[in-house]
Amino acid sequence: MVLRIKSEDPTVGPGELSINPMRKKDLSAIHEIEKLVYPKPWSVGVFLSELAHHKERSYSVAVLGGAVVGYSGVMYVLEDAHITNIAVHPDFHRHHIGSALMYSLVLEALDYGAKNLTLEVRVTNLAAQRMYASFGFMPVGVRKGYYQENNEDAIIMWVYEVDTTEYRDRLVQLASKRNLSARRRHFRWFK
Ligand SMILES: CC(C)(COP(=O)(O)OP(=O)(O)OC[C@H]1O[C@@H](n2cnc3c(N)ncnc32)[C@H](O)[C@@H]1OP(=O)(O)O)[C@@H](O)C(=O)NCCC(=O)NCCS
Repeated sequence: MVLRIKSEDPTVGPGELSINPMRKKDLSAIHEIEKLVYPKPWSVGVFLSELAHHKERSYSVAVLGGAVVGYSGVMYVLEDAHITNIAVHPDFHRHHIGSALMYSLVLEALDYGAKNLTLEVRVTNLAAQRMYASFGFMPVGVRKGYYQENNEDAIIMWVYEVDTTEYRDRLVQLASKRNLSARRRHFRWFK
């Protein structure tokens, strides 16, 4: 994937964006991003607990120039893959890192045997909703007051039958449009 970065951060040079399995050593960087992007960030303890359930959960990090710039998580329940978290450091929004994480997550879910993908998203979070819609997610319901800290509703989104040729074709088209490499976990990055 060829990405261009607007950030002036001199520590970020040309290199590869990699999507790697999340490790405990990544958690302090992840927690810093959590605090920047969410009103009620997950604690390091929550991530540790999620990582401990590695049979039915999978967490990844996006690494650029040696730094964690984003992460994602998924929980498998039978044929359904439930996206539990996805975030990108605000300095790196709109550079398709979220899409790279989603793309990698979907490919992994397909490998796992998932047939459907689901998630909850805040009604006000239009950026995330747009990204999910581009991956085929449709709103199917609302959980009233799901986010207790401000009583905000969650939209429940699903994309069904991802194990079909039609969905794979859609994914290939999206990957091409967003310059996501066919190689799943390593993407070229240019400043
Ligand atoms: C949601 C999030 C992960 C997206 O990551 P990202 O790397 O910025 O997203 P991408 O660059 O891959 O964007 C993919 C598409 O989503 C849409 N999109 C993303 N951010 C958007 C924004 N701020 N406004 C409008 N559309 C947006 C666009 O359609 C975009 O495609 P385009 O740039 O080709 O037009 C990021 O905004 C984030 O970390 N938000 C805070 C955490 C969060 O809300 N997570 C989701 C919880 S449910």
